[in-house]
Formats: sequence, structure tokens, C-alpha cells
Amino acid sequence: MLYSATINVMVKAARRAGRSLKRDLGEIEHLQVSLKGPANFVSLADKRAEEILLQDLSKARPGYGFIGEEGGMREGTDKSHTWIVDPLDGTTNFLHGIPQFAISIGLQREGTMIAGLIYNPANEELYMAERGQGAWLNNTRLRVAARRELADALITCGIPPLNRADGHARFQSELAHVMRHAGNVRRLGSAALDMCFVAAGRCDGYWERGIQTWDMAAGIVLIREAGGFVSDAEGRSDMMSNGTVCCGNEYIHRRLLDLLREADAGRRAPLARAAQL
Ligand code: IPD
Ligand code: CA
Repeated sequence: MLYSATINVMVKAARRAGRSLKRDLGEIEHLQVSLKGPANFVSLADKRAEEILLQDLSKARPGYGFIGEEGGMREGTDKSHTWIVDPLDGTTNFLHGIPQFAISIGLQREGTMIAGLIYNPANEELYMAERGQGAWLNNTRLRVAARRELADALITCGIPPLNRADGHARFQSELAHVMRHAGNVRRLGSAALDMCFVAAGRCDGYWERGIQTWDMAAGIVLIREAGGFVSDAEGRSDMMSNGTVCCGNEYIHRRLLDLLREADAGRRAPLARAAQL
């Protein structure tokens, strides 16, 4: 691929932050971890990686805004451009020494995602996409899988953890319904990499509710540039604001949306009947 200046900046920052994460992964048992809430650990590694990304991206593009999972929103003088960064997506995997985690950097211009990079330093997989330039894994061009039948499809998802137990019932009904139709389902533990796997054709579809802007910002560009479709869980383009996401190729994306709608209707029907009694 021909690296644009923007992608170069993102790659350099991600590789430096990645070296830091990789060192910290090796010493995971010595890391001090602070507890942000039940089942939501945030490690020092996370904060260090965000600091590196903030430093490098701000130095290369002074004035751009920066939204990071750890530090929140930092306004820039350039109101058109914003970096949307997750320094460590897959924190639970990381803390358990499972090498399925990533740095995710998205660039938004005037409200549109125009570039995305997702990097797993544990296996050196570097996913990149820029609007109109295609999606890449290292030097290989990416394309979503061609499978059209749900029965052949491998679907990934996100399971709400203990501290989001209010999402359990809905998730369970959706999962049960997807399991009745799809070939098989996975929970891999990093939303950013789930989207990369769909872009790379490894998985056919992915859905999750209750996720954040930085979990999906870069992935949105990757999916679109790999020829896939991405929306919120209702099929609208509001995923960044309402925190739900559903993606896949044209066929699987549509079928997955149908299943989510059916699961929801099935869950509401007994509730509505009970209310009438
Ligand atoms: C989480 C991961 C996980 C997803 C959660 C995210 P974190 O991000 O992407 O796969 O299910 O919704 O919050 O906390 O590891 O950065
Ligand atoms: Ca995340």
C-alpha cells in the first residue's frame, strides 16, 4: 500500500505505544492495576500507551482534537479534525495475558471517519484504512468475506460484563436467536479487532450494544473500505452516538439486523402480554 502522510503518522505513534504495551504485557504480574469499577480494570499500561499516542499525534498534527478512553476529550484549535483513540482495546484479555488486544486510532474530519488504524502488538498485525484508499492488513488488501448464508457464517459479538448486567437479558435473547440461525458465534474480547476480523473476512458479522466511540471509530473505516456495511443495531448510521454496532458484508449485515429485530420483538411480546393482564 502507498502510505499517506496521515497513515504514516498513525503507524509511528501506534508502533511506539505498541512497544510500551508489549513490554508491560511481559511484566503483567508486576503491574499495579487500579480498579475503575467491577470487571473494568484499567492498567497503568493503558495510561502509558495513551500518553504516548497523545504526545506523538499532537506533535505531528498540532491543533487536532483528541478523544481518548483514559483522558476524555481534549479540544484542539483545529475544530475540523479529531483523533479518536483507544490505547488498549481488550483490556480484560490483556490483564489475563491473552494476546487479543489492540491500539485503535481513528481520525474524524467534520464528523466523518476518514482514517483508521488498529494494531495488535502481540502478533504485529497492523490494520489500516483511509477513505477511498482501501483497507489493509500489513501489505495485504482486505475484503470482507463473500458468504451469503447465515448458516455458513461465523459471527462475533460482545457480552456485557457484570457491571453492565442491565444488558444481560437483551443480549441473551439476541444470542439465543443468532445461535438458532448462524453457523457459529465467538466472543473474542476486543471490539476493534472484531471489526478487523470482519474486514479481513475471517468472521462474517459482528454486533454489540453498549460500546464506546473509541471502540469502533477506526473499525468503521476498515469495514467500509473492505467493502462491508456498518450501522447501529437498528440499521441506522448513528452507531457513534448511540453506542451499538452491527457489521458484515451486504447480506450478513442485513440478516444480522433482521435477527436482532426479531429477538427484540420476541422479548417484548410476553412483556406486552403481561402488561395487558
Ligand atoms: C472493551 C472491548 C470488548 C467490548 C467492550 C469494550 P476495553 O473495550 O472492546 O470487546 O465487548 O464493550 O468496552 O474496555 O477493553 O477497552
Ligand atoms: Ca475499548
